[in-house]
Amino acid sequence: MRNILIAGNWKMNKTIAEAKEFAEAVKGCELSKHTELAILAPFTQIAALKEALKDTDIKVGAQNVHHEPSGAYTGEVSVAMLKELGVDYCIVGHSERRQYFGETDATVNIKLKALIAEGISPILCVGEPLAARQMGQHLTFVGSQLVTDLAGLSDKEMEQLVIAYEPIWAIGTGETATPEQAAEMCGLIRGIVEGLYCDRDIIAEHIQILYGGSMKPENAADLLAKEDIDGGLIGGASLKVDSFLELATIANEA
Ligand code: 13P
Repeated sequence: MRNILIAGNWKMNKTIAEAKEFAEAVKGCELSKHTELAILAPFTQIAALKEALKDTDIKVGAQNVHHEPSGAYTGEVSVAMLKELGVDYCIVGHSERRQYFGETDATVNIKLKALIAEGISPILCVGEPLAARQMGQHLTFVGSQLVTDLAGLSDKEMEQLVIAYEPIWAIGTGETATPEQAAEMCGLIRGIVEGLYCDRDIIAEHIQILYGGSMKPENAADLLAKEDIDGGLIGGASLKVDSFLELATIANEA
């Protein structure tokens, strides 16, 4: 069985002091052996979170990385720099990065490869805009994102990947995909992975596929009850200790 991963994407929120306070408040939480928790924080908070959570199973990740090993890329952070911090995960291709920072499927693809080469698990985000869903093109939209994002990844590389389905119309809007809509897409994603990779047992059956988009304690149980949904990538509801802990409890019981 696949573990459930509850991953909080803090986006551009919290100071180091606030991050430490959050870590102190959540570090004692009980996790079942099928539940994994991760905090994906701004770069400035990663070292403090790693230190505060070092005796726990809570993982720490980043939200972006540059694919080049070093060089004249003002403002960017390399995979080696993340590795030095002991980062476990890194989000790649979040829709906000695609929308505001020009991230493309081609750059997503090279970032995935650069992270995996250093043993950091990418959390690849895919998802359609509202217009694509309204036109009934959501499955082809996400399918074509995936084919380019995953181009050239070997079976071995795929084993390290987590995929998050985040419909853009559900992010930060309070509007959640229904469990059926989310499960349909997560099932399609698993099917595409299965089509791209020969060893079905290892890849398609084991890869974790998360849902993201206004996921919160009120709707998490119904989403996590779906067979193809293996967790959540959670924005707003991961910023508060209470709701983050509640999501962990719901995952324990799923
Ligand atoms: P919200 O949970 O705030 O909708 O954000 C989802 C998201 O973008 C997580 O990466």
